[in-house]
Amino acid sequence: GKTTDLVGRRIIVTAGPTVEPIDPVRFISNHSSGLQGYAIASALAAKGADVRLVSGPVSLPTPPSVQRINVRTAEDMKAACLEQLPADAAICVAAVSDWRPESVSNRKMKKSADGPPTLILRENPDILATLSQMKERPTLVIGFAAETDDLRKHAEQKRRRKGCDWLLANDVSKHRFGGHRNQVLFLTEMGTEDWPEMDKSALAERLSEQVVAFFQKQG
Ligand code: C5P
Repeated sequence: GKTTDLVGRRIIVTAGPTVEPIDPVRFISNHSSGLQGYAIASALAAKGADVRLVSGPVSLPTPPSVQRINVRTAEDMKAACLEQLPADAAICVAAVSDWRPESVSNRKMKKSADGPPTLILRENPDILATLSQMKERPTLVIGFAAETDDLRKHAEQKRRRKGCDWLLANDVSKHRFGGHRNQVLFLTEMGTEDWPEMDKSALAERLSEQVVAFFQKQG
């Protein structure tokens, strides 16, 4: 690998959690650390790519030579991704909240004698599926999938349903959120590779080598 392999390639990377407000002080989110997405952004930038890291709130430094766009909600993350188009590739690593509260209260919600409030949720946009299926589709679209059972079958179905080119699937019953190591199945149209357990930075390096090879073949 060389530091110039991806020069001239714009690559969108989503990372971290999204945060969906309920009222001025409360929200729905998840435990995503952002580690895997940031490692991928870092590895791609080290090969010269023009990386646009669209990130939910995480406590990680921005990797060298990466342009970071901070967002909070899924809708903002989607809009920020679309603003970065046209792009050569998109790698969706963010743990996007599946739902958001239908309405956000302007004031802090108060306890009441009527009992607890009912949260009405709306489905969030699927950023990976949107990027995969749109007219201005990046040439290479890559997703991640966390599964707890029947990893290969569910991951293959997810790859087809979303319309992405590659999917990296991991068994979250084995690897907890926030850890430094990861183990994935690497699924493409051509088949499935079982990658060994490794550091998230090593996985990022291996994935970015695949990206380099893809663009070399494509010319
Ligand atoms: O459907 P599921 O959440 O398992 O899919 C995971 C993949 O889809 C990840 O690549 C994630 O970043 C992406 N995703 C997304 N927008 C959503 C939900 C998931 O981009 N609303």
